[in-house]
Amino acid sequence: LQLLSVAAEMYPFIKTGGLGDVVGSLPDALEKQGVSTRTLLPGYPAVLRALSNREEIIRIDNVLGHTGTVLCGRTEGNTVYALDVPALYDRPGNPYLEPSGQPWSDNGIRYAVLSRVGALIAAGLLPDWKPDVVLTHDWHAGLVAPYLHYMEGTPPPVAHVIHNLAFQGLYPYDMLQTFGLPDDAFTPDKLEYYGQISFMKGALQLSDRLISVSPTYVEEIQTPEEGMGLDGVLRARSNVLTGILNGVDLREWNPMTDPSVFFPYAVGDIIARRANKRVFQAEFGLPQKADALLLGMVSRLTTQKGADLLARLAPRLFQENIQLAVVGTGDEAIMQEFAALRSRYPDNFVCHLRYSEVLGHRLHSAVDASLIPSRFEPCGLTQFHALRYGSIPIAARVGGLSDTIIDANSAAVSEGVANGILFSPTTEDMLYLAIRRAQTLFRQKAVWARMQRNGALHDVSWNGKAAQYAQVLQEMSGYETKTTD
Ligand code: ADP
Ligand code: GLC
Repeated sequence: LQLLSVAAEMYPFIKTGGLGDVVGSLPDALEKQGVSTRTLLPGYPAVLRALSNREEIIRIDNVLGHTGTVLCGRTEGNTVYALDVPALYDRPGNPYLEPSGQPWSDNGIRYAVLSRVGALIAAGLLPDWKPDVVLTHDWHAGLVAPYLHYMEGTPPPVAHVIHNLAFQGLYPYDMLQTFGLPDDAFTPDKLEYYGQISFMKGALQLSDRLISVSPTYVEEIQTPEEGMGLDGVLRARSNVLTGILNGVDLREWNPMTDPSVFFPYAVGDIIARRANKRVFQAEFGLPQKADALLLGMVSRLTTQKGADLLARLAPRLFQENIQLAVVGTGDEAIMQEFAALRSRYPDNFVCHLRYSEVLGHRLHSAVDASLIPSRFEPCGLTQFHALRYGSIPIAARVGGLSDTIIDANSAAVSEGVANGILFSPTTEDMLYLAIRRAQTLFRQKAVWARMQRNGALHDVSWNGKAAQYAQVLQEMSGYETKTTD
């Protein structure tokens, strides 16, 4: 089965968060299920640099007024089509934001062109390859299904993956022509959303199947509280909506071979891990106390992630024998709060306010517990990283976090099945109580060790999840029937 995946980011070429991880690691897992993926990405400088062996496949003239080329390269086992339109994508740094931190003012057309070329490839633009089925990711690729809807012929079916419903790609009505869409598209059953054009809604309405990244998030987004104004649409389409948890590339996240880990250790070897805590404390400038509960957080620093709660709570934590290390970047105001905490509490707190894969990996190999106090979390990947590396996740009971973490309540502890700590609702006080609970469990060495071992045994891989994706894709394309004919 030939799959075209269309997305705005893909690890290791360009990544701002979990979307990049998933787009980057799913193809390899799908290959084992008989699904061959080619991924269409914007030709950002980082993508073009990574594709040193690229060749020009086709020139595109006047796609929504833009001209460029589709390049193809194979790297790290992936086949990537890079859409090289310098006027839109030849910009360094974060793919979505200007250096000032504001979204690029032309993001609408940037991702409309990506979607348009995705739809054209799906419909047979390329001389030697046409997909059987298309997978589009988040709002950036949201117009693929609408464009195909208005094309002649029988285009391949589309499944749209909702990684985060909070980002919808909303643009004023007068952009409709610029996006090359007819007036007919501007209706509530297509992409009209309270008087605006919504890329996400277009995808939700016009894709053949919808996938989101955890079963619980799929339930949550069908409620008015969490549906971001699209819950009605999602309820109406619930018969084609499936929740499939994300997975993690186990080669990337293996503490034995991970070059970012100071002292390599086998998954589950919690004794060997202790040396990493000591050297991490030294490297990060914290006192080397084995008995201090060392908490860590690797995250976008935004209100979705509850980073503001943690910043407010921190001084209370530092009255205890608790240390906290944060690796993250995001909202300016939250970053300033963390920077101020660093100067006030140097013995308890350290932060690296930037994006660093190395520090992100190293942190989970060293800290006792990883904090994930999200207000909502479609899936979340850091709980997987924590579980695999022997750090106990302390997380809000939302979305994918509640699908992966078994809370250390007394029943789960006595049954020996707990692997983390969950709290709800996401408030400063509940986060505080969860951390106090962690402190108590941390002192009960046998219980804590059992939780760490349970975490290490938890299957965070793509195996079963990729099989679920493959099943959806095969159902859509009628592939099974084709092959058994
Ligand atoms: P989201 O996609 O909502 O940001 P996820 O938990 O799904 O959340 O994925 C975030 C990914 O980005 C993880 O791989 C995490 O380790 C990584 N990450 C986030 N911030 C940083 C940072 N400052 N440095 C390194 N890695 C980061
Ligand atoms: C989004 C979500 C996150 C999810 C990731 C990958 O960025 O916020 O929860 O893990 O996408 O699907």
